[in-house]
Amino acid sequence: MIKENVQAALNQQLNSELYASYYYLSMSAYFHATNLTGFASWMRAQAQEELMHAMKIYDFINDREGEVALTTVAAPKRDWDDSLAAFEDAYRHEKAVTAQIYDLVDLSVEERDHATNTFLQWFVTEQVEEEATASDIVNKLKLVGSDGNGLFLLDRDLGTRNQESDGDE
Ligand code: FEO
Repeated sequence: MIKENVQAALNQQLNSELYASYYYLSMSAYFHATNLTGFASWMRAQAQEELMHAMKIYDFINDREGEVALTTVAAPKRDWDDSLAAFEDAYRHEKAVTAQIYDLVDLSVEERDHATNTFLQWFVTEQVEEEATASDIVNKLKLVGSDGNGLFLLDRDLGTRNQESDGDE
């Protein structure tokens, strides 16, 4: 069994991961609307990955004989000034998620919930990658600046993500 407060925190994180999926899907739609289809495809893959994160928590709560409580997912932002602003938001978002995961880890330690603590280590590692990836794209976009050719090449590069990450999970 799982303690009520740990279960509530996991359910909150489940909602947060679902929101992240929604958020990246909204960014994908934004990039589609601006004809940056490679960026759009990258964001769509990211939305799928967030859904996978949510389902990991969903399965864990069920495995611990807990109760999954799905709640309202907030409507995400729909518009950004440009690609850099969108990816800066993504990077900020990932840093906020890392802080949420750390809070959860702290709670699992306080409650001596070793199973939850072990489960959360996957997310701790994943967040290192999530932050690094978002930060890397922000830096590339800063380098590209207003150079249309650079943006075209980066869009093409990010558009290859789906093929590369197939079977990667
Ligand atoms: Fe689920 Fe992007 O962290």
